[in-house]
Amino acid sequence: MNSSTLPPGGPLLLAPVVAHRGASGDAPENTLGAIRLAADQGARCIEIDVSISRDDVPFVHHDATLERCTNGAGRLCDHDAAELDRLQADKGHSDWQGESLPRLSAVVELCRQLNLGLNLEIKPAAGLEQRTARAICTQLSATWPEELPFVFSSFSTAALDTARECWSDAARALLVGRVPADWKERLSRHACRNLHCAGGQLTAEDAGEIVAASVGLYCYTVNDPVRARELLACGVHGVFTDHPGRLLAALPA
Ligand code: G3P
Ligand code: MG
Repeated sequence: MNSSTLPPGGPLLLAPVVAHRGASGDAPENTLGAIRLAADQGARCIEIDVSISRDDVPFVHHDATLERCTNGAGRLCDHDAAELDRLQADKGHSDWQGESLPRLSAVVELCRQLNLGLNLEIKPAAGLEQRTARAICTQLSATWPEELPFVFSSFSTAALDTARECWSDAARALLVGRVPADWKERLSRHACRNLHCAGGQLTAEDAGEIVAASVGLYCYTVNDPVRARELLACGVHGVFTDHPGRLLAALPA
């Protein structure tokens, strides 16, 4: 592939409204409860963050450390899965007591039951980029229901490259903040069909060029319906939001 050739397949389409960490504006983020609530609010796709335990089991969690969202302490990757299974992930949500820290396997099963597409963001601890992507691919390549939309994303190109080696059929998205000037070369280098960028910084000009190149374009984290409408009008394929119900109600069907 030369420096400007994008991988075949075109954009990997999820949905115009993707629930960011589940319906994380109303429920504890990245929990089964937040995913069920997203589906109840009408979302057809979710985004989650995934890293691995000390014994290489994928868990759904945003931070490298456990303190902000759970009753645990220290780095997630320093605990075995059996210890992580005992944690509560309902911190700060007194009305959601009992939510656990979910294994990825439980989320896959829930997506299957609720018919939800998935953007799995690989969120490796520093130094565990390849091991994390490998553990996730080993599990998902055998269990993901192929009829449901699926795309990996990551800020870590090492993780994306490993995902490409381990499960080449799965689509990948490069995650960035501001769109870099060399976005096309970067997508080409890492064989990514999608670009996921910060919604607050995207210009209409960049959006137009990216969509015209047949790249899937999704923006995070967009909770303002006015901004969501602007982005979708520029050709953006979808937005990640903490409030899927609110955005779905405000956008044209
Ligand atoms: O995947 C979009 C978005 O989730 C990336 O940032 O920090 O919310 O995982 P973050
Ligand atoms: Mg994320």
